[in-house]
Amino acid sequence: MTARGRDAAATGPHGRVPVAVLISGRGSNLKALIDAAKAADYPARIALVISNNAAAGGLGFARDAGIPTRVIPHRDFDCREAFDAALDDVLRQAGVSYICLAGFMRLLTPDFVTAWQDRILNIHPALLPAFRGLDTHARALEAGVRFTGCTAHLVRPEMDDGPIIAQAVVPVLPDDDAERLGARVLAAEHRCLPHALALLAGGLIEVRGQRALAHAKPASETYLFNPWLEPDKMA
Ligand code: GRF
Repeated sequence: MTARGRDAAATGPHGRVPVAVLISGRGSNLKALIDAAKAADYPARIALVISNNAAAGGLGFARDAGIPTRVIPHRDFDCREAFDAALDDVLRQAGVSYICLAGFMRLLTPDFVTAWQDRILNIHPALLPAFRGLDTHARALEAGVRFTGCTAHLVRPEMDDGPIIAQAVVPVLPDDDAERLGARVLAAEHRCLPHALALLAGGLIEVRGQRALAHAKPASETYLFNPWLEPDKMA
């Protein structure tokens, strides 16, 4: 069965692919997903929100939207494997087809990632493969790059690795500090993650080796310069 056929079989009476969103904190990306999924033609529904942290602010967004929540405190487990096994149980009981990591600050074990191969989406606040890991905005400023952004990608066992589904480019401006730049990137994340999940749940992504091909309209071929270059000087 193709991925599209399998997802169609999993949609059930709601007609949309069920997705679990995993969070650890504020949950602004979760909120963006909840809002996107309100559209009648959005191909995924948020069936469950899971947090490893009972104090995660984002749980409130889920509750307000009437979405079931589960807290699985990682401190209750003595190793990553045991935590991931509990997570896997909850996800399988919920019958979700995809997992969306939206500010989930736990590394998943290779066994878990393999069991959910091509079914875990993550949002990272940089243009991968640049600036893997934490403090991406401070590091982008330090490196002097003129653009940064965010990446929605399928998860592989290595941290911040895996086929790229979508990226959004954000300019670094002269007066930026990490906070200002981070806010601009976060606004882009709120567009990029729902877009990537729609492509994935809509069956429009084909994984070939390290690449994810999107059967969707590509970006325009126009160059983007920072600092600005007048369009008539680009040729
Ligand atoms: C986002 O910047 C995301 O890219 C990173 O953690 C942050 C989570 O923010 N992995 P929020 O909880 O979605 O507001």
